[in-house]
Formats: sequence, structure tokens, C-alpha cells
Amino acid sequence: MVEIIQRGSEFLARKGVDSPRLQIELLLAHVLRVPRLKLYLNFERIVTAAEMETLRGLLRRRGKREPLQHLLGSTSFCGLEILVNPQVLIPRPETELLGERAQRFLEAFGNEPRTRGTPTPTVLDFGTGSGCLAILLALRCPKARIHALDISEAALNVARQNAARHQVADRIEFHLSDGFNGLPAGLRFDLLVGNPPYVPSAEIETLQPEVRRHDPRLALDGGSDGLCFYRRLAVEAAPFVAPGGRAMLEFGAGQAEPIGKILSNADWIVESVEEDYSHRPRILIARWPEK
Ligand SMILES: C[S@@+](CC[C@H](N)C(=O)[O-])C[C@H]1O[C@@H](n2cnc3c(N)ncnc32)[C@H](O)[C@@H]1O
Repeated sequence: MVEIIQRGSEFLARKGVDSPRLQIELLLAHVLRVPRLKLYLNFERIVTAAEMETLRGLLRRRGKREPLQHLLGSTSFCGLEILVNPQVLIPRPETELLGERAQRFLEAFGNEPRTRGTPTPTVLDFGTGSGCLAILLALRCPKARIHALDISEAALNVARQNAARHQVADRIEFHLSDGFNGLPAGLRFDLLVGNPPYVPSAEIETLQPEVRRHDPRLALDGGSDGLCFYRRLAVEAAPFVAPGGRAMLEFGAGQAEPIGKILSNADWIVESVEEDYSHRPRILIARWPEK
């Protein structure tokens, strides 16, 4: 097994794959159906010809820069296993921060199960993709009512499947919607979370092959300056936000200031910009006025 790991790691390194040793270990563990750390307790285990064949196929695909998560069929988001395929963005670690921040906001409503007379926070996950944020919030905030929208029917199918696997399908209402156009009138959200597409169109070709060839373009492309969805959100969200409601939006490098201006010009009150674990500004929090 040591030799398989060594050779696999060298192959992936030649193909320009990051962290090649970790990647071959994860692929081998997947093929052998053992946790990665157990590989090292089973160094003597014989890898059968059929297992080797499967591993070779996966290695070839990884060498062509197919994302590891597509080969494994899932990824981990805040400790939850989330199914992914090429129809949805692979949830990123940075977005976990948005989930945790949103959770903290919702906890302020109290976390007892819904009872008559207690306020029920209503949440919208804008551009839900795999459903990772909506599902996390449904699980961690049992009182909240969750809505999630996406323009992609294929993405919504993955999100519904993930919600069912985590047993929160009855807690999330999914909407096929271009922006806010497909939402039923009359909904009012206390919290709007979103990780909209924010890559400037011309920059998509400069991204890693795993991203530019395998994440859906619909999940990446934020228009010529990357800000098209923030402009839409700032205005389209207004009729759907409860007085004093919050928007928590993830964004990319250098976008905090222009997004702050876009929101302020549409009457939002920018409260804070929060950094990710690498100290990069990453989430903007804005409040909708009380009146
Ligand atoms: C960057 S992905 C975020 C996915 C997921 N929330 C996450 O953080 O992993 C953006 C999502 O917005 C969706 N989207 C793109 N254009 C949209 C539109 N006009 N209306 C609604 N959703 C849209 C995409 O299909 C995609 O699922």
C-alpha cells in the first residue's frame, strides 16, 4: 500500500494537483471503504486487482483535474456530509463561516422548539446550490422556518436529496426562482443568507481547472464586475425583508467596499464586514431599517 500511495502521489503531483499525497490517500480510502487514518493501520492489506482498477480510473480522472469531491460524490460542510455533483457548487470551507454567523443570529431568537406565541425566525438561503446552508440552519436552529431558492432545477434536486438525507426535508421550502421573481408574495424574512455568484466573468478562465471546468458556470459568474447579484439583491430583496431583518452575504476579494455602497444606496444599513479564517474580508452583514 505504501508503494501505491507513493506512486499515486507522484502521478498527481506531475499533473499539478495540490496536496497530492492527501488526495491519493483519500481516493484509496474511498476505494477500500475505510477512513483515511485507518489506511496506516492496514499497511499490509492486499489491494485486490478490482480495487486497483477502480483506483486507477479515479486517479486518471483526478489527474485530468476532476475535483476530488466529484469522484467521492460528497463533501463535508460544518461536519455534515453533503452530496455533490457537477450541477452544484462544491461547498467551500469559507462558507462554513457564513453558516456559523447565521446560526448565531438565529440563536438570539431562542432555540426551543416552536410553540405558539414564540417568535419564529424566517430565513431565506439565496442560491442554495447543494442546500448546504439551508440544511445546516434547519438542523442547528430547530425553531427557524427555512426557505431556499435557486434558478437551477438540477441544483434544487441535489439540495432536496441532501435535505432528505439529513431529515430536514419538511423544514425547508425550496423555490425554483430567478432572483426573487419566483417567491410567493407575502413572505417576510428575518434573515437572508447568500453566497451568490461573484466571480467577474472574464476571471473565470483564470481559475483552477477544477473550478473553471467543473463548478457550474451559473454558480460562479457574477457578471462583468462580479457584482451583478449584489445589485439585484439590494433592490429585489426589499419587499421580502422584515423590518430590522438582516442580510448576510459572502463575497470575493476586493468586493467589500463596492457591495457596501450598493447596499447603502438601496437603503440598507451596513453593520459589519467579517473576515474568514485567513483574515480576508468575506461576509457583509447589513440591516434593513425598522421602518
Ligand atoms: C456560489 S453558488 C452557492 C451555492 C451554495 N449556497 C454554497 O454556498 O455552496 C451560487 C448559486 O446561485 C444560483 N444562481 C445563479 N443565478 C441565480 C439567479 N438568477 N437566481 C437564483 N439563483 C441563482 C446558482 O445556481 C448557484 O447554485
